[in-house]
Order: sequence, then structure tokens, then C-alpha cells
Amino acid sequence: MNKLSGRNFIDLDDFTREEILLILQTTRDLKLEVKRGHFHPYLQHKALGCIFDQPSTRTRISFELGMQQLGGYVTYLKPGEIHLGKKESIYDTAKVLSRYFDAIMIRWNDYNEMKQLADAADVPVINGMTEKNHPCQALADIYTMMEYYDDIIGKKVVFFGDRTQPAHSLGVICSKLGLNFVHCCPKKYAILSDYSEIFERNNRISGGTYRHTADIVEACTGAHMVYTDVWWWIGQEEEEAERRKLFAPYQVTAELLTRCDKNVIFEHCLPAMRGVEVTDAVMDGPHAVIYDQAENRMHTEKALMVLLMS
Ligand code: CP
Repeated sequence: MNKLSGRNFIDLDDFTREEILLILQTTRDLKLEVKRGHFHPYLQHKALGCIFDQPSTRTRISFELGMQQLGGYVTYLKPGEIHLGKKESIYDTAKVLSRYFDAIMIRWNDYNEMKQLADAADVPVINGMTEKNHPCQALADIYTMMEYYDDIIGKKVVFFGDRTQPAHSLGVICSKLGLNFVHCCPKKYAILSDYSEIFERNNRISGGTYRHTADIVEACTGAHMVYTDVWWWIGQEEEEAERRKLFAPYQVTAELLTRCDKNVIFEHCLPAMRGVEVTDAVMDGPHAVIYDQAENRMHTEKALMVLLMS
């Protein structure tokens, strides 16, 4: 039995620095096993239900394949294919799914509804992204950084662009582990106080820092990791013209990376809009670690499932 056994994974802030490090260390062990061709059935005959209310490439594949590699079973429920919250209450769905599955992974836009499901379920519920956060993504983001830097503590992580779900979760994990997190964008899109207060509280313990700036040169100086995400998402299409104009100076370009630490890595949660928030030269350039990052979704989520479901 480990300290994560049986728990939900909805917010990174619910986990201590030591618990997050345990997930990351377990990731390293599991990834090494796979690279050596060893696939131990740590979750043999366990079942994972995967629910989505939005499309997904990485989250779906990484959980499905990850669970199969661990010897378990997966049921994929695509958007609109489950009664959850429409013909059946969240409570009843949670209770029923708990009789079939040993854990539930859910991508669900409404954060409060996901919390209700997690509160009612009798098995661990894993957040596959909500309107507010994307904690599984942050695990892969930081794990990927650990593969490029011997020691990530005190390193400078700069997120360019909109305050998206990956931005929130990246800020939380940086504050838990003691990194210096900078959000660089127009002030109108700065991270709101509900998350910046979490960052500040954690930073008082971890020694990390958080800062918002609209100044690109200031943000880039000494940056060890540069991250960006799309400038608009489902439901924000009407704001496209305004967002394109406001975020244009914050596009991640090869020239921008020359202002950072010489060993800077570039991350993107994907899917990316090439030529919008980031150029092809960066996506395909020597600093990009985006495909390692995508692969690491699977290794980090396998570690998470082993720890929560064992
Ligand atoms: N980054 C991410 O969550 O990708 P998908 O939307 O493809 O799952």
C-alpha cells in the first residue's frame, strides 16, 4: 500500500511534493522497463473506464495503451455516449461505474461536475482535463524537463500566451517542486487569483517563485523551459481575431529562443496551431522536446494508475 492508493487525482494541489516526486520516480522506473522490453502486469485484470466529452488524441491513447501494457482492461466512452449528467444523475453514474471499473479517467469540461463524480465514486477518479486544469499534462511536462536537466529545482519555466488549463497545472506543479514559473502575456490574460494564490502559498514552502510579465525580454532572460499553448479553444472561436492580435507579439519563434538560456527546451501540450502560437522552425527545431513530452503522457499516466489502483 502506498500513500496514493485509492485516491482521486483531480488537482495537483491535493498532493504533497513527496507524493508528486513518487509519481515521477515511478514513471522513470516504468519507462525504463518498457525501453528494456519488459511489460509487467502490475494491474492485471483491473479495469479502467475512460469518459470523454471532447475529442482527444494523447489522453485517450496514453491511458488506453498504458492500461493495456499494465495488463488491464479499458472501456472507451466517446463524447455523447454516456448518460452522465443528462439522463442519469452524476451520483448514480458514479455508483454504477464503480461496480464495473477499478478506476475512472474522465475528460469533462465542467470542473464542478467532475468533482461531484469523484466525490460519489467508490474508485479513484483521474482528471483527464477540465475547463480549469490538466494535471496529467503537468506530470508529463515536468517529467520531460527532468529528462533534460539533472536538477530542475530553481529552474525558470516560462509560459507564453493564454491562461489555459496546462498553464494552471504547470504553475501548480512548479510551485510544489520549487521552480520559478513566469507567465508572459498581455495583462488581460494573466492567471487569475484563484490559481496565483495557490502558486504563492506553495512557493512559501518550496522556495519557488511566480511572476506575471508582459515583457518578452524579461521573460526569456535565463529561461530553461519555454512553453506555449493554443490562443483560443472550443467556445472561444468568436474571440479569434482579438486573440490573434493581442497574442501576436508572444508567438514562440526561433529568435525568441535565442534570448533564453542556451540549453532551453521548448514544450507544447499539443495539439498546436503551427504558425499561430509557435513557428515551424521552433516545432521542428533543436530545442523542441514536444514528441518526448507526448510519449511521456503514457509513462506518467501508467505510474499514476499503478500508484492509485494498487
Ligand atoms: N495534450 C492533450 O491533452 O492532448 P489531447 O487533447 O490530444 O488529449
